[in-house]
Amino acid sequence: MLSLASLLVANSLMGAPDPEVMKRGEAVYNRTCIACHQANGQGIDPVFPPLAGSEWVAKNPSVIVRNILHGVAGPITVKGKVYNGMMPAVAGVSDAEIADLTTFVRNSWGNAASVVTEEEVKAIKVKYADRKTPWTAEELDKDSK
Ligand code: HEC
Repeated sequence: MLSLASLLVANSLMGAPDPEVMKRGEAVYNRTCIACHQANGQGIDPVFPPLAGSEWVAKNPSVIVRNILHGVAGPITVKGKVYNGMMPAVAGVSDAEIADLTTFVRNSWGNAASVVTEEEVKAIKVKYADRKTPWTAEELDKDSK
């Protein structure tokens, strides 16, 4: 029989997120992203791009975190479709909330990508501390591996 400890080890080896983190991340999503990207992560065509199945969500976690910290503007291709709008920087979220939220988005609606920790969010903030304006898709892509 599997003990809880071995389940937790198996989960972390497979990168499956902690259900508590997912619950907290969903609450932050519902507060800060849902108006535009919608409850099912499908966005609203043709203005708000989907997060479900988005190649940007699957890249290095710094891509979503930078979107949240500084916004993104101008043409961006998501799942083969070009969007050309503007996402404002998201204010009023702590580093821990950004970590939970990013983990939630990367592991919902069929997405499956690594969990993100508060420490990673802090490191991304330090690395891009001088950034004041929204990112372009080209800039995000350059540093997204
Ligand atoms: C006011 C509306 C709005 C809110 C709120 C918002 N976004 Fe966005 N988001 C957009 C728009 C518009 C774009 C596309 C911008 C462009 O065309 O350059 C975008 C693009 C993105 C992208 C890259 C493209 C994609 O679809 O994968 C990600 C990732 C993303 N948003 C995540 C988030 C997360 C996470 C939150 C909550 C913390 C959030 N957004 C909140 C409007 C919004």
